[in-house]
Amino acid sequence: MAPKVPSIKFYNGYEYPLLGLGTWKSQPGEVTEAVKAAIDIGYRHFDCAHVYGNEKEVGEALKQKIKEGAVKREELFITSKLWCNSHKKELVVPALKKTLENLGIEYIDLYLMHWPMGFQAGDNVFPVDAKGKVIPGETYFTEAWAGLEECVGLGLARSIGISNFNHKQIDELLKVAKINPVNNQIECHPYLNQQRLIDFCLERNITVTAYSPLGSPDSIKSDDPVLLEDPVLKTLSEKYKKSPAQILIRYQIERGIPVIPKSVTKSRIQSNFEVFDFSISKEDMAILHGLNRNTRMVKFDMTDTHKDYPFYEDY
Ligand SMILES: NC(=O)c1ccc[n+]([C@@H]2O[C@H](COP(=O)([O-])OP(=O)(O)OC[C@H]3O[C@@H](n4cnc5c(N)ncnc54)[C@H](OP(=O)(O)O)[C@@H]3O)[C@@H](O)[C@H]2O)c1
Repeated sequence: MAPKVPSIKFYNGYEYPLLGLGTWKSQPGEVTEAVKAAIDIGYRHFDCAHVYGNEKEVGEALKQKIKEGAVKREELFITSKLWCNSHKKELVVPALKKTLENLGIEYIDLYLMHWPMGFQAGDNVFPVDAKGKVIPGETYFTEAWAGLEECVGLGLARSIGISNFNHKQIDELLKVAKINPVNNQIECHPYLNQQRLIDFCLERNITVTAYSPLGSPDSIKSDDPVLLEDPVLKTLSEKYKKSPAQILIRYQIERGIPVIPKSVTKSRIQSNFEVFDFSISKEDMAILHGLNRNTRMVKFDMTDTHKDYPFYEDY
């Protein structure tokens, strides 16, 4: 039997598994099989989003696996995210209802505000101007947050959180929040170890999820460094007899940071799960930590003129 993935606890008492499967860029035609394989392997945590355009196909896998008795809904932890074109308060509950319909579930375990930036409302998920830059909406993220709080009140979301928020934006939000976020989902790997933002969040009882933990090799632009090919990582991989990806996933688990590597390849979904039979020494954790170079793979360039673009702050 597959090992049960250890969890951390949110301040509201809900458990959050330390390892989940990412689904960004998982094509609709491949994600159903990927999620089914993951459930068989032992994954119970799935990271989804409306904008990934594949929630229906993720839902198909959940439905099949629940139907065949492989897993129960209450054993699953499903995250989804509110997209930026639905930040007006009255659009938030309908957006979550659409996600729930696509996923074929009655409630979401964790609903995140995907970005602190509101876009022009409408069907277009990436409304852009003639220069290719995103057209902002009139909302501030506090308005969208009030909508997320409503989702909790209606029993549609168990927990709510944020993603891609910098430390100033978090404090802005905490000034008005009636329900505090349980989690901030951010890019995190040894090239961007995010220690300051993690400490800042934890001091406020906000857990952190590490996205793009493998350095998002399919997002890399030609001049970006390839984390999975880092020579230091290769040396550690040989030392521990674990793949570079397994070292990167275990690095977050050692830190107590939930981590959501994405794959649609069955053998990788399997090997990325085999991270509970070894640990990385303190000294080697420090070496991995020392690789930090503040390199961001997910820059979302088309939004860098938005007034709430989060990445101009140090952390
Ligand atoms: N909140 C946000 O704004 C945000 C932003 C980015 C990501 N995320 C979430 O975080 C998840 C993970 O991030 P990510 O997708 O950017 O990147 P990632 O997990 O760092 O990397 C995924 C890429 O690595 C490949 N891969 C997976 N396992 C591997 C292995 N063992 N060896 C070598 N290559 C491997 C995958 O290929 P195959 O699939 O072809 O196997 C895929 O191309 C996303 O899917 C999404 O759920 C959230």
